[in-house]
Amino acid sequence: MVDAARHPQVEIISYAEVDRVDGYIGNFRVQVTKKPRYVKMDLCTGCGECAAVCPIEVPNDFELGLAPRKAIDVPHGQSVPLIYAIDMDHCIHCYQCVTACGKRDAIDFGMEPEVLDLEVGSIIMATGFDNFDPTVIPEYGFGRYPNVITAMEMERLANSAGPTVGKLMRPSDGRVPKSLAIIQCVGSRDKRFNEYCSGFCCMYAIKNAMLLKQADHEMDISIYYMDIRTPSKGYEEFYNRAREMGIRFIHGRPSQISQDPETHNLIVLAEDQEIGEVIELETDMVMLSAAAIPRLDTDEMASKLALSRSPSGFFMEYHPKLRPVDSPTDGVFLAGAAQGPKDIPASVAQGSAAASRAARVLSQDTWEIEPVIASVNAELCISAQGKKCGLCAKACPYGAITVEVGQPAVITAAKCHGCGGCAAECPHNAITQDHFTDAQMVAQLDALLADKPEEKIIAFMCHWCSYGGADNAGTSHFEYPASSRGLRVMCSARMDEDFVLEAFRRGAGMVLVSGCHPQDCHYITGQQVAAKRFSRMERLLQRVGINPERFRLEWISAAEGDKYARVITEMDAKLKSFDREALLAETLAARPIIGKRLARWKASPLMAGLVPLEATEEVLA
Ligand code: FES
Repeated sequence: MVDAARHPQVEIISYAEVDRVDGYIGNFRVQVTKKPRYVKMDLCTGCGECAAVCPIEVPNDFELGLAPRKAIDVPHGQSVPLIYAIDMDHCIHCYQCVTACGKRDAIDFGMEPEVLDLEVGSIIMATGFDNFDPTVIPEYGFGRYPNVITAMEMERLANSAGPTVGKLMRPSDGRVPKSLAIIQCVGSRDKRFNEYCSGFCCMYAIKNAMLLKQADHEMDISIYYMDIRTPSKGYEEFYNRAREMGIRFIHGRPSQISQDPETHNLIVLAEDQEIGEVIELETDMVMLSAAAIPRLDTDEMASKLALSRSPSGFFMEYHPKLRPVDSPTDGVFLAGAAQGPKDIPASVAQGSAAASRAARVLSQDTWEIEPVIASVNAELCISAQGKKCGLCAKACPYGAITVEVGQPAVITAAKCHGCGGCAAECPHNAITQDHFTDAQMVAQLDALLADKPEEKIIAFMCHWCSYGGADNAGTSHFEYPASSRGLRVMCSARMDEDFVLEAFRRGAGMVLVSGCHPQDCHYITGQQVAAKRFSRMERLLQRVGINPERFRLEWISAAEGDKYARVITEMDAKLKSFDREALLAETLAARPIIGKRLARWKASPLMAGLVPLEATEEVLA
């Protein structure tokens, strides 16, 4: 931290909050509000004389409330920069700090917040994690029994710079504990709270146990675990050393902790799965290895930077294998536990990777973007005619579209990722997606349904998952009927209800719409936009006279070749169960109704060069 602070090309802006992020890769504009410290940064020497005379004490957040701090203080002893700040929520304006500061005159009660506008080329999100609060697990008694503490509290109690100067003491009576129970997976791997594994708790529990055992060989330490996970280099050996030192490992998650009201000792009840028996152990102290959880403001930051979140709530990477430090927004990178729980070596590796990815952006004068982006036809955009709309801007997960009444919608090409959601949402066909225009889509339908359309299943698939799933079905030699015809788009968000109707109008027997599972979509909320849109499909089909059973919506990942094969097999069986004559009659009856709805396509310049809609009559006849 000190090295970073001294570096001539690093500016640390502390005690500040990000208000807004605009722009795009290479050209971000970030508005930051620096909170007033009421202490001048250039005059404060960090001597601490002000804190020494401050009469107000409040719980110290860094020490997790185990020690007090003053109303004028630094966050912790190694803070960078080491500049004091006044906590105005608790300050009583006695001005003793001003007197103690004396001639240095560093304290200024008149300070105001300062707004900074920064221009940056790339952004790294390294916002870390929060700790799970175990008070919501009543059976463990955290918050009720003073000697039940979290692993983070243990870190502070065992730290020589901590509130007890490194001496482990029981909070109830200050006695040095002779026995300790450590409970793993508190709030993680637990369907009630968080299903994921917090990753690093096994190793810090073993580390803490070993340090305490080294300090006191007689200490009786038990670790209650579901599985000990030691996948990294040297970790298994570390675990074996802990066993050799006499640390007891009990295979089972405790169901209850109770307290002896007299001694404040704790009784841990658990099933030892190794021996298949319920055991009860009395111990002086309990340490809970609480889950790492996403920071409280993750949602707020995600919306400021157009980032997506994984089901566990952490920031989601662009691709878990191929772009693990990139976020879905170009130019924004992820480092450390903000992306998911990880230990120190993994955080350092990811931090270095994120820095080098960011440097790659900064070292170039120009940046190439994907050609698959959306564009607006100003003549068709009703916003240009003074009418309120903005559906495209709402559908865009990247904030790439701005709409002002009286002006056509504007798409910032560098921010557009080409999901196509805006093109599908626009009710006036004013937006198209290059390389996946309406005309190109309909032309493909025309070709795919040129012969015996009633025997075909049209499968609209997103590029990243379902298309990969279909590919996987082929390369894995999963058998499925030959009746399906695939039509690829970048994201399920691009799949227009009108494409489905057009497929039926052209006589398709069945239609499948398929994309990624919600958490896997490569375009933040693209899948959600599609899921919402197609939840209305059944009613729409009924309205135009098509049996809704001829339509199916499925989320298929690139690894689910078996699922793709199963879905197509089931759809084929369903198609064959329909009476062919009745199916054709249904299609013919629905054609004019669908044709009326799609008539606007004819007038659209985006459909220029398209096979005339009337041509399908011949095919159907
Ligand atoms: Fe597959 Fe969005 S990329 S649904």
